[in-house]
Amino acid sequence: MNAIRSLACLLLVLALLSACSDDTVGAAEPAFEPAGVVDEAAPPDSGATAASPGSPFEADAPPARTPDVIYVPTPQPVVDAMLEMAGVGPDDVLYDLGSGDGRIPVTAAQRFGIRAVGIDINPVRIQEANANAEEAGVTDKVTFIEGDLFDAYISDATVVTLYLLQSLNVRLRPKLLSELQPGTRIVSHSFDMANEWEPEETREVEGSMIYLWTVPER
Ligand SMILES: C[S@@+](CC[C@H](N)C(=O)[O-])C[C@H]1O[C@@H](n2cnc3c(N)ncnc32)[C@H](O)[C@@H]1O
Repeated sequence: MNAIRSLACLLLVLALLSACSDDTVGAAEPAFEPAGVVDEAAPPDSGATAASPGSPFEADAPPARTPDVIYVPTPQPVVDAMLEMAGVGPDDVLYDLGSGDGRIPVTAAQRFGIRAVGIDINPVRIQEANANAEEAGVTDKVTFIEGDLFDAYISDATVVTLYLLQSLNVRLRPKLLSELQPGTRIVSHSFDMANEWEPEETREVEGSMIYLWTVPER
């Protein structure tokens, strides 16, 4: 009888040990990515959703699709030069396609009192941009829209700013030419339009190239 009881106890202990070891395997499965991964370091096709370094924002949801280019902000002196090169004045409406933390629309609204729109596919960037507009006191002039710049309504822009890639500028060119009004100025940081469209002005600012085009009459 004692031998049977000992055998039953042994089986019970073995069963418990087996259950515990299953739990351990479960706990060792891959966890979620740590929050706060910096997407500047990510390749362009990573679809990274994390906030900028030091940003308090995190994505509730990832972008609707993988961004075409990673987030890298334009330095403020280059922003200022882009606005100057475009000849921004009080009657302009500025669109920044791929607006990041919103610094170009926010600066345009602050300096010139104009309406400005930023479009970015990454919801974290939109949160950052809205917070920056609030801090700058320009929420009445600036709108940030979460969406794909290739699908965006842009026809009321009189100035468009870009900091994308040469290949994206070239892909965007037919939309710019067909949807923008003649006379609209386009300024791009770092990237031209290859041999598809010669810029009418080129300038170097603190080691960065900026390029200007004007939409011709149709
Ligand atoms: C290099 S950053 C430029 C940010 C800002 N314009 C500046 O100059 O500081 C490019 C931005 O484009 C956004 N982006 C990438 N693909 C996009 C797309 N298809 N539609 C809208 N935004 C996009 C990225 O999320 C990123 O914020």
